[in-house]
Amino acid sequence: MAHLHITSWVIAFVLLGLATTFYRADNQKAAKISQMILRLDYLLILYSGGSLFASYSNYGPGVIIKVVIGLWVIAAMEGVAVKYKKQKPAAKWWAQLSVAAIIAIILGWGFLPLGILPS
Ligand code: HEM
Repeated sequence: MAHLHITSWVIAFVLLGLATTFYRADNQKAAKISQMILRLDYLLILYSGGSLFASYSNYGPGVIIKVVIGLWVIAAMEGVAVKYKKQKPAAKWWAQLSVAAIIAIILGWGFLPLGILPS
């Protein structure tokens, strides 16, 4: 499940990159398709993250914070994509996305017990 989780959020970053690049190039159709697939990919992130969460037997504060920050990453991705679609400045959403993604990755790989890294 950790592999699906990692794969699905890596794909999300790629799709967000595609969507923003296409919006910037005013290729509305390609941008819309990328954004649609990105939204489907959120479901994979939620499903895999939810399954990891469900496999805990002891819920400490770390994993609760991880879930909240994970949701914040998805919200920030959506915020970025929507600003590009509306051709409005997206800097504040990019900033939130960077902060949230860095915290999620540090928590996931640095502090929490499940996953692909040897402990
Ligand atoms: C795009 C946003 C997200 C990023 C970048 C992210 C990143 C990560 C990373 C790097 C790990 C560690 C994987 C490993 O150890 O191999 C992880 C684990 C986890 N994630 Fe996420 N995640 C995101 C979204 C979510 C969401 C939305 C949820 C909840 C629904 C969630 C719940 C979890 C849980 C429960 C774990 C297991 C923690 C552990 O290792 O014990 N994540 N995530």
